[in-house]
Amino acid sequence: MLNVTFDSALRVFHLTNGAVSYVMRLYHEGYLAHLYYGKALPEPLNVESFFYETEREGAPQPHGHEFPRLFSLDTLPQEYPGVNAGDFRLPALEAAFDNGSRCVDLRYVSHRVLKDKPALTGLPAVFAGDRDSLTLEITLKEVAGELEVRLYYTLIEGLSLILRHSEIRNTGSKPLYLNNAASLSVDFLEADFDILSLYGAHANERNVERQPLKHGIEEISSTRGATSHQHQNFVALLRHDVTEFSGELYAATLVWSGNFKAAIERSSFDNTRLTLGINDKGFNWYLEPSECFTTPEAVLVYSDTGLNGMSQTFHTLVREHLTRGQWSHALRPVLVNSWEAAYFNFNEESIVRFAKDAVNLGAELIVLDDGWFGKRDSDTCSLGDWDRIDTRKLPSGLKGLADKIHALGAKFGLWVEPEMVSPDSELFRAHPDWALGVQGHSRSQQRNQYVLDLSNPEVRDYIVRVISAVLSSAPIDYVKWDMNRNLSEVGSPAFPACRQGEIATRYTLGVYDIMERITGAFPHILFESCAGGGRRFDLGLLYYMPQVWTSDNTDALCRQRIQYGTSLIFPPQTMGAHVSACPNHQVGRVTPLITRFICAASGTFGYEMDLGRLSPEDKEEVRAQIALYKELRETLQRGAFYRLISPFEGTRNETAWMHISEDGAELITMYFKMQAEPAARLRRVRFKYLEPQARYEVVSHLHSSTPVHNIYLKEHNLKGQVFSGAQLMSAGITADRIDADAASCMWVLRRVD
Ligand code: DGJ
Repeated sequence: MLNVTFDSALRVFHLTNGAVSYVMRLYHEGYLAHLYYGKALPEPLNVESFFYETEREGAPQPHGHEFPRLFSLDTLPQEYPGVNAGDFRLPALEAAFDNGSRCVDLRYVSHRVLKDKPALTGLPAVFAGDRDSLTLEITLKEVAGELEVRLYYTLIEGLSLILRHSEIRNTGSKPLYLNNAASLSVDFLEADFDILSLYGAHANERNVERQPLKHGIEEISSTRGATSHQHQNFVALLRHDVTEFSGELYAATLVWSGNFKAAIERSSFDNTRLTLGINDKGFNWYLEPSECFTTPEAVLVYSDTGLNGMSQTFHTLVREHLTRGQWSHALRPVLVNSWEAAYFNFNEESIVRFAKDAVNLGAELIVLDDGWFGKRDSDTCSLGDWDRIDTRKLPSGLKGLADKIHALGAKFGLWVEPEMVSPDSELFRAHPDWALGVQGHSRSQQRNQYVLDLSNPEVRDYIVRVISAVLSSAPIDYVKWDMNRNLSEVGSPAFPACRQGEIATRYTLGVYDIMERITGAFPHILFESCAGGGRRFDLGLLYYMPQVWTSDNTDALCRQRIQYGTSLIFPPQTMGAHVSACPNHQVGRVTPLITRFICAASGTFGYEMDLGRLSPEDKEEVRAQIALYKELRETLQRGAFYRLISPFEGTRNETAWMHISEDGAELITMYFKMQAEPAARLRRVRFKYLEPQARYEVVSHLHSSTPVHNIYLKEHNLKGQVFSGAQLMSAGITADRIDADAASCMWVLRRVD
């Protein structure tokens, strides 16, 4: 179904994969215009219906144009708009040339169709073979001849999306500065949209926010050197009637982990332009003659089946075309992490005891978090001193500890934070110029640390060497790769003044370089990325590491919102989710152990607590939870995930979602209610995406409850009941009435015919 056609008479491009169509046309002297993106269209297209030129007061015409007053770049829907040439809307490309010109006016030169998806040098990117993808490359040149742009459009078989990136080459004889180079720009000849985006903070990531698109410019961005806790590099334009289950929308994100900007402009004529790419704020790339700059890859999803439809496309993309290596599709082990159990206060004996208790209850992977190196008894020192195992705490070293944990029958995992350095560290004392910094300015600290200058190849080589030595020194099966601050005073002595505007971008490219080298050298290790929780949960990092610590907030109520928002883009097996102790360490809340379990079971599951300290009853509950999780893991990690009730809408008091196994035979539906209500209604949870004729038996019915209400709940247990798909979808299952805060239910159903 993959097809790219070029009608040379009409000068129209049509890309389709049977799911979507993308249509462009060359106007007049080679202006590349956007005509359509959306549901697949059959050939032949009637291109006359998409757009016509019309006079607009205030819109300038290019010089010498044969249709005075009708044609203007300011009203043409464009593919990759320049600047200072008659289009006053958001530019995709801005440059400053040696002769002082800041004019960018791009015209078509040529195009070709590529069977192999081109690699993006030094960047993570979606991968696809010559059988399941097709790429169109269009070359444009700036009219003064100093610059050439190649635009790439890739379609993937069966996926309702298009991938875009650009290469910008200096074709002149003098250096130039790139001031802005978007990955994606797309114009819609309409503006009746809502904007949906994900905002947050540390421990409060990815809240869903939706508002009508207003005239003017909306921006969602980060200048923090990472995707950020504050804003996800994601935006969706929704028709006003879009729900989780229906309606038409466009959603864009980046395969990128650094500064970004998504900008949406609604013009006076009710056109909408969406641009997405590296943030131009602070960005200034010095391009020598014949040098080329490659933008990160952008993903533009189209859905006419609402937000769940959009998420299915993103989830398939991540699973099948982004995460790599032997862990990409492997079932992930049940993990127990030492952080909230011990913080910096542990030794070999206590960790072995901690591990024994966890393994005894069924845990498969024991992770030693922060505090095992230098003299790191707090977060005030030692980052960078990875080669100095703290033998006060670990007298037989990492190997001794790892061997003991392996002897218990579990895997061993370790925390590292390779991108950072403590001012109080041997590394910083030896190499003070290895931290990012700007002459004449003292460095800001965040969590008592500085950021290493990953733009400097010498620093990157050191990190690769020292971390590789640690990973080779002991049998390590898992690594949690942390990053705990934003970038400030971004500058590097390794580059001349004219290149200081590149350092933030080079930092992210440096992260990719060290991750490529380290993950490539240790393919057996399961890597989980983390950045103070969810600062860097993006498609860029997922290319290197198949799971991410979703948030430092482990409270089951907060987690419902965080995981709900995160699931818009990312599938459950990418989301680290752990049961932690109560009162919760972030918000002080006490929630039932079972609610904590049900919520965490929707991610890469584990515990963030000392299981040995639980009461005998709770230990038995945890043993049962782990056993149940292992039984359901295939569906939870590999199945499809759908959202049913949003905690960001309505009363904002309830959440529901469901997992369906790959073969459709097992359903796991989870329902949560945050606060108890007086006179609570009985809530029907309606299932979706089932075969109406199929019949399903409830094989497990869990619920949180207070002892007072146990009697009622026992009577209401649905185990053994059989329902048709039609009934589950139309009437649903009425959730247990639990008159307590942080209530939850989980129904596991299996197909019986
Ligand atoms: C921040 C992470 O998000 C936590 O899980 C933990 O690993 C700490 N860093 C350790 O310093």
